[in-house]
Amino acid sequence: MGKIIIAGNWKMHKTQAEALEFLQVLKSNLEEANEAREIVLCAPFTALGVMSKSLHGGLIRLGAQNIHWEEKGAYTGEISGLMLKELGVDYVVVGHSERRQYFGETDETANLRVIAAQRHGLTPILCVGESKSQRDAGETETVIINQVKRGLVDVDQSNLVIAYEPIWAIGTGDTCEATEANRVIGLIRSQLSKKEVTIQYGGSVKPSNVDEIMAQPEIDGALVGGASLDPVGFARIVNYQ
Ligand code: 13P
Repeated sequence: MGKIIIAGNWKMHKTQAEALEFLQVLKSNLEEANEAREIVLCAPFTALGVMSKSLHGGLIRLGAQNIHWEEKGAYTGEISGLMLKELGVDYVVVGHSERRQYFGETDETANLRVIAAQRHGLTPILCVGESKSQRDAGETETVIINQVKRGLVDVDQSNLVIAYEPIWAIGTGDTCEATEANRVIGLIRSQLSKKEVTIQYGGSVKPSNVDEIMAQPEIDGALVGGASLDPVGFARIVNYQ
């Protein structure tokens, strides 16, 4: 078991004004008893600055959705760890399936980004997950083990989060069975040298299924997409029973 971390991945959603409005409502809906749970909001780069000022060291942590492996240079459209650190960011999502699918991210570039995040004192959230056709072909285990191995070459496992996000369960409402997510996450853990790494489940997590997911022994948290955009619903997810 790792530390419990419930993270929202806003993807390409929310302006600065919308992000601040979200924070107001979220804060008023959090239960104090749940302080042991880390709450992370992975917002667009443009919202991170104002969110950081509004949070100033409270319970909620900030995450970014990408990081380049160089500190600076001619890499149009990329962002560096130096820039994220300055904004008060603590986490960064790396190797999300949408980055792999639409922007050519590979296990090798994800690995470079994970290492860069750690070098800057950020905690990378490395995403892995199989597609529907890989699952149907019985390749889930091989795909996941390969993604974990290649993503973690030369990586310090003491500052790491992994998110298991089966691609077929992302944005589809088709959640992976909690026991199946637990099984694959157990498999991921068996590949790690540090067993206390936080491993999250992601893919159509919502208020109505979070309790069952979080009741699983191997699952240490959730990476929530669509359902993290509504502050009341996301508070319910954070306040899972
Ligand atoms: P959904 O929760 O919208 O399925 O997205 C999951 C995800 O991709 C989080 O990174």
